[in-house]
Amino acid sequence: MPIDPRFLDDLNARCDIVDLVSRYVSLKKSGSNYFGLCPFHNEKTASFSVAPDKQIFHCFGCGAGGGPIRFVMKIEGLEFPDAVRYLAKQYGMEVPEDTADRGQRQRRERLLTLMKEAARWFYTQLHAPQGKPSLDYFRRRALSKRTMNNFGLGYAPDSFHALLDAMTAKGYTKDELFAAGLIARSQKGTYYDKFRNRVMFPIIDIRGDIIAFGGRVMDDSKPKYLNSPETTIFNKSRNLFAMNLAKKTKSDYFLLAEGYMDVIALHQAGFDSAVASLGTSLTEEQARLLSRYTKNVIICYDADNAGQKAAQRAIDILGRAGLSVRVLRIPGAKDPDEFIKANGAEAFRKLVERSENHIMYRLQNIQDQYDLTQDDQRVLFLKDAAKEVAALENAVEREVYTARAAKTAGVTPQAFALEVKNEMARRRRFEKKRYQREVRAAANAAQPKDRSLHYDNIRSARAEEGLLGLIFADASLIPRLRELISPAEFSSELLGKIYAKACALYDEGHPVSATSLEQELTAGEMDHLAMVLGKPVPNERREQAMQDYVNVIRASAMQEDENSLLRIAERKRKQSG
Ligand code: GTP
Ligand code: MN
Repeated sequence: MPIDPRFLDDLNARCDIVDLVSRYVSLKKSGSNYFGLCPFHNEKTASFSVAPDKQIFHCFGCGAGGGPIRFVMKIEGLEFPDAVRYLAKQYGMEVPEDTADRGQRQRRERLLTLMKEAARWFYTQLHAPQGKPSLDYFRRRALSKRTMNNFGLGYAPDSFHALLDAMTAKGYTKDELFAAGLIARSQKGTYYDKFRNRVMFPIIDIRGDIIAFGGRVMDDSKPKYLNSPETTIFNKSRNLFAMNLAKKTKSDYFLLAEGYMDVIALHQAGFDSAVASLGTSLTEEQARLLSRYTKNVIICYDADNAGQKAAQRAIDILGRAGLSVRVLRIPGAKDPDEFIKANGAEAFRKLVERSENHIMYRLQNIQDQYDLTQDDQRVLFLKDAAKEVAALENAVEREVYTARAAKTAGVTPQAFALEVKNEMARRRRFEKKRYQREVRAAANAAQPKDRSLHYDNIRSARAEEGLLGLIFADASLIPRLRELISPAEFSSELLGKIYAKACALYDEGHPVSATSLEQELTAGEMDHLAMVLGKPVPNERREQAMQDYVNVIRASAMQEDENSLLRIAERKRKQSG
């Protein structure tokens, strides 16, 4: 359901895009615009710009662009209505909800209440007489009563309908239980409890709502863990287990583990910043979520091969979210839970304190690939290791790791340093080329990034962009422009469409802004519009500029017609000749 455009206009007017973007990106003023490093792609040169007068951002590097709402959508990973709500809340405004929307929200609230009731019920079962085996199970795993309560742990009894009965007695329908992922449907169409004879781990989002459950068997049967399916309230790639607790930590780092039990054991041992992804490998969204609460993440995945491989992946993802990463190697145990159980909390704290910087970890991994007693292998190690060291931004760090890697490989630090120097020169050349490419692309900005929006007639499209720039700067030009040209005469379908919509907005008395079009354009189209609007607009003699642009459009249309006539004639000539 679209949100009332008048409300969007108000919201757009109320918020300050520079202030908004500054919360994520450090911006420097240059002329009337602000520049910084783009938060949406990796870069070393600032090609991300914010134009406060136009209320838009635009990146010359990756092409992302739009108004304040689009910025929130991209950076917080929210859908349009959620981004509007998010922004509105910050400015103390209330989003007018239409009835369909309100219905949806009420449904969501009800599912969340159902999840809470279910968790309470599982908790009761854990402490009831028939729950004794499950309580014993948690005790065997060394969990204290306090920890169990802290995590809201529970027990789903060995029955196909105990939860179903308990919740329907409270007035919930089967449809609701099914939508919440608490019951499943058999082929015959009957419903039954999804979690049976399992200890239960509620999964809670950062707002404190229970959105899913993980359930573990108490023996060796399979599957070991069963998780709630994705539902309207549960998106597993956007949430982290225990984030609701960890977000309150005072610690300056977060611990990222693989399993629920690891996280619980870590919290019990005093590491209150431990979280885990939910039975899948870490996603970019989870990395972004972490980056909202910390700058440092220590990965403590399982010691096995799979765990180490996953750690490599996680390093990259976390790094891309701007986090500084360290990796913990857990000696003599399968995972943090077992290590703590065997060696105690203090031993784990020592591990954390001594935890390797991620570069040391990578060097270790590279080293493992080569037999350093062989001369040829040593050369290969040197080359690979130099690449890692050369990538470090900090000169002191480079020196430290040069010394270490040289020692490992049994070469002089000078020899290794030379290799690093060469590698750095190579990187610089590469960076320079990339930078030149970006600058060239920005200077031209000839074509939309989105290939499906390609311009057929660049000369005309440039003039059409100019017209849009004018009317977005001053909508009162619209009536006059309309007398000069119609949307159908635009060579670019997209620009023509935007022109038509701008006219419609004007007729309805709305401001003509990027935000007003937010609900009508695709992400690629919005990126492109932001780029177009980012270009300078003449301040004076705007009517004349308008006339000039229209002339260019007409002339190039004529040229285009001529060209195609010539092409047809040429083809005919060839065919007959
Ligand atoms: P414990 O045996 O209870 O100590 O498990 P763990 O936490 O050490 O789990 P493990 O390392 O085996 O797996 C890590 C995480 O992967 C678990 O916490 C689950 O989230 C998930 N996982 C493990 N086994 C399964 C399974 O059979 N199915 C699903 N869906 N997820 C699983
Ligand atoms: Mn374990």
